[in-house]
Amino acid sequence: MLKTVEKVDPAFRADVLNGLAEPIPAIPARWLYDRRGSELFDEITRLPEYYPTRTETALLQDRIGEMARLIPADSAVIEFGAGSATKTPILLHAVDPAAYVPIDISGDYLRESAARVDAEFPGMKVYPVEADFTNHVDLPPEIAAMPRLGFFPGSTIGNFVPQSATDLLRHFRTILGTGARLLIGMDRVKPVDRLIAAYDDPAGVTAEFNLNLLRRINRELGGDIPLDAFRHQARWNDMMGRIEMHLVAARDVEFTIEGRNFAFAKGRSIHTENSHKYGPRGARLLLLAGGWTPLAEWNAPGEDFALILAEAERERFAP
Ligand code: AVI
Repeated sequence: MLKTVEKVDPAFRADVLNGLAEPIPAIPARWLYDRRGSELFDEITRLPEYYPTRTETALLQDRIGEMARLIPADSAVIEFGAGSATKTPILLHAVDPAAYVPIDISGDYLRESAARVDAEFPGMKVYPVEADFTNHVDLPPEIAAMPRLGFFPGSTIGNFVPQSATDLLRHFRTILGTGARLLIGMDRVKPVDRLIAAYDDPAGVTAEFNLNLLRRINRELGGDIPLDAFRHQARWNDMMGRIEMHLVAARDVEFTIEGRNFAFAKGRSIHTENSHKYGPRGARLLLLAGGWTPLAEWNAPGEDFALILAEAERERFAP
């Protein structure tokens, strides 16, 4: 009988096998999002302890009038990631753009969210683009003459280390062009106990989200990692200004992945995600380093979260 073999993504394979062999084992956070991982992340956004989604949505709702006044008429809104059913409509209702271009790597999710937006905004053109926005993206020719507004909510920028975050912002600038604007969500530094609660919730959803990565490795790469040998841990790294997710070995453990042996002594961890938090100056500096000049910013009560509008100015080298 023929055995059905699930197609292995070579990039996933390489990231896992190389990442686990590093002196400080780490696997890029993007692999957390298989179907189950995406469902779990959705669940996280509704947890009482996970403040970013709720806070950013409320901020958008409360201040969208002011934001919209700074966005040119008949713009095209380009969203990096398929739009959320709650945040994106708030922006589109207020800005009333001529076109909306969601860019997402997951074709299914993209089509679903584009169809939802299309039905809600009959007068606006929707041009979904199936692509990994960290790589080359071709915008639809139909929006060539329109002013552009990039939209990158959720503090997803925080999941990139500063060097990659700068590269990504520069890449957005290349995609959108000089003169474009960018509305970006950035999570703020706050007391460590609140941060830890948000990334290690008592219901254990974030733990499940993190451990699901091991399940994915076992399923897609034929691993035999015993899941009960690892514990989820959220750590605040003060020097780097970020929350880190780790999977820490609760005992000495050995396992194989595609015939390769790995041994983890008790207490050794696999670093699975960074979530950087920004003070006001750090946020602005990151944008400037990425080629975006901040124009205005809106802060949630208690400075919990910020939305910043920035412009891709012509490069100026004067002091
Ligand atoms: C997607 N991203 C902005 C989330 C964050 O807060 O860094 C991912 C997440 N990881 C654990 N909880 C949420």
